[in-house]
Amino acid sequence: MIYDLVVIGAGPGGYVAAIRAAQLGLKVACIEKRKTLGGTCLNVGCIPSKVLLNDSECSTDLSKMMSRKTQVISGFTKGIEGLFKKNKVEWILGEAKLKTPHQIEVDGKIVEAKNIILATGSTPIELPFLPFDEKKILSSTGALSLDKVPKKMLIVGAGVIGCELGSVYQRLGTEVTFIEALDRICPAFDMALSKALLKTLSAQGMVFNLSHKVLKAKDTTLTCQSDKGEIDFSADLILVAIGRKPNSAHLGLEKVGVEIDPKGFVLIDSSFRTSQPHIFAIGDLVEGPMLAHKASEEGVAVAELIGGHRPEVNYLAIPNVAYTHPEVAAVGLTEEEIKGRNIPYKSSQFPFLANSRAKCMNDDGGFVKILADEKSRRILGVHIIGPHASELIATATLAIQLKATADQLSDTCFAHPTLSEALKEAALGLFKAPIHY
Ligand code: NAI
Repeated sequence: MIYDLVVIGAGPGGYVAAIRAAQLGLKVACIEKRKTLGGTCLNVGCIPSKVLLNDSECSTDLSKMMSRKTQVISGFTKGIEGLFKKNKVEWILGEAKLKTPHQIEVDGKIVEAKNIILATGSTPIELPFLPFDEKKILSSTGALSLDKVPKKMLIVGAGVIGCELGSVYQRLGTEVTFIEALDRICPAFDMALSKALLKTLSAQGMVFNLSHKVLKAKDTTLTCQSDKGEIDFSADLILVAIGRKPNSAHLGLEKVGVEIDPKGFVLIDSSFRTSQPHIFAIGDLVEGPMLAHKASEEGVAVAELIGGHRPEVNYLAIPNVAYTHPEVAAVGLTEEEIKGRNIPYKSSQFPFLANSRAKCMNDDGGFVKILADEKSRRILGVHIIGPHASELIATATLAIQLKATADQLSDTCFAHPTLSEALKEAALGLFKAPIHY
């Protein structure tokens, strides 16, 4: 049997690509070594962290939270198995290695494919002197499965993972201290959001040591370089969340002529083709934000391309969310990026303090910031920190996807009282004036 498409990896990039390709009538197999489908996102990433973030808002019973987490994951992993069966995607359990450009070895057996999608995702980056043991030195995977609440936790890296998991344990009573190399947190976000998030997380009790470089480690004590000299930090546990690296090393890529860059990212052209045109790569394995939904969009695009369509992924319209409290969400360009591109722009900010629904909810911290091109008035970026920012960003994403202008957004009627009205007001503030501020 020669498959039309073999997908390697069943994360949100791979499993979605496999289902879409099968829907288009292709004969598809998906190779996955984990005993459950769904990849990092579902098994040890987005989904378990969101269960813990949700439950830690109203419970301190860690074992209850962990068992609900397991239940949620198992429901969804079985759900994907069901979707595979329904769509006639064959799951091959095992580790894949490319043998020839059209042959993949899985545990001694050869699988043949006309097209291949590489979707093997990424793994947490280790500090060389602080290898993960998942007992005291944790990656995000270990931090999602603790059996007791630590007294003190050090988190190296104040990015999205650090801030989300730090929030979970801080709510459960852990003293959480961050060591961050940069002079800001969550560097992927617009500076206004990073600053506001730093302020609110600090007010919640988390301690941030910015511009601190970790020099060495002894057990769970870190020696860091700061502008005040060397300082030691100790804790019961250390979570290292300094980013992730692509899983490209053990796939046999060099043997079949698929090129990678020095960081391990698979090199692709604008239609996701590697240096072997029938082998595609998507998701965390290629350059770009390491986000589940970005991988899914790319997976669908490649499946449709192989199926004879002409899909497009709009990278300007990919939202990015941190599920802290308040939530942080963004889409489009940051102010720093707009300045870097020398685009004349206007910026407007509307605080939730002046939004009636936020007041009713007693959750009125944060703001909506919108950036628009000064000449065309097109919306270039929307940056939100505040209640339900993760849901509000959908409207902004649609606006950017449809190339909407500030006027089109501000001319839209939003229900009253809703948080979304803050989007309208911020849009009004760009070229007209907000009504309620
Ligand atoms: P990140 O890139 O968001 O943050 C890493 C942080 O560690 C940065 O602030 C960086 O300056 C800092 N850092 C790097 N090396 C350091 C060192 N040696 N000492 C101290 N600080 C250091 O990476 P993170 O949080 O590990 O997340 C990995 C990926 O997973 C990201 O691309 C993120 O977008 C994605 N993710 C997305 C989530 C979401 O959508 N809600 C949730 C969690 C992760």
